[in-house]
Amino acid sequence: MLFSATLENSLSKTHVPSNREVEQILTRKLSHIAPEPDFAGLWDLNDHRLGHVSQVLSASQDTREAILTDLAQGRFREAYGIEKAGMSFAAKMSLLAQSLNEQKLYSLFASEEAAHFHFIQAVLGDPPDLSKDPFIQFLNELIISAERRPLLFIIQVVLEGWGLDHYAGMLKSCKQASFKGPLQQILSDEAAHHGSGLSLFQEDELSQSELKYTLEMMSAFLDMVRIGPVGLMHTLDSHLGGLTTAQKQAVLTEMDAVEDTTRKLNLLKGLMQKAQAKQILAELEAKSAFTLLF
Ligand SMILES: [Fe+2]
Ligand SMILES: [Fe+2]
Repeated sequence: MLFSATLENSLSKTHVPSNREVEQILTRKLSHIAPEPDFAGLWDLNDHRLGHVSQVLSASQDTREAILTDLAQGRFREAYGIEKAGMSFAAKMSLLAQSLNEQKLYSLFASEEAAHFHFIQAVLGDPPDLSKDPFIQFLNELIISAERRPLLFIIQVVLEGWGLDHYAGMLKSCKQASFKGPLQQILSDEAAHHGSGLSLFQEDELSQSELKYTLEMMSAFLDMVRIGPVGLMHTLDSHLGGLTTAQKQAVLTEMDAVEDTTRKLNLLKGLMQKAQAKQILAELEAKSAFTLLF
């Protein structure tokens, strides 16, 4: 109980600075690239699957730039929440580790998540308000409430595997050279976080209650994917002055949303297969948890 209260405090804190000595130590230990991002220039419309969306193409140059800025910042806002949560996650897993070497591993991961978080902080400048971000709230809830084995599966196998795909896409299409190195570093660190989760997770070690919990949380996560690009639609809607239902449908068609969301759901299925999570996968499939909801 004390443990979850501690985690809750850890995940909800927003205060950034510490005292002068601490700041100096961090300055020495962390690399300092001040990327000065041109958010609108980081990724183009095609990189957000908007290159064929007529509502966007016919908007003014200013509106298109505002959309690109908002979407790029959105990627970093989400990454801020993920990397921040990653520090608390690694700390919890370190305390729950079953061997000293496993504890070393999670202590190293915690330091990597701190470096990732530091980079994202530098990119964004001001801390974002993520209190209404459903995915970040879900992630925080998971880190507070899950036991070690469901965490191995949901966070390391599924979410860090999913994150790898996300960061790889960001890196591949990124137009600003100064972002490539830090994104590449995050990608290779996350590959090890995911890989260790794959090797440590054994489905048959889950207790009945852990299995039940894992299925519930995975269903909740899959529901957020199955509804399609809702966040992106919300961004477009706010910049384009309100889209009708027919216009929204046209946007989804022009951006191949069905194809893209199907690819994501298949990727998630593939991650579960890689972890030999046969029962979890079978139960989720029996509940039609991978079918589209739009
Ligand atoms: Fe990370
Ligand atoms: Fe990670």
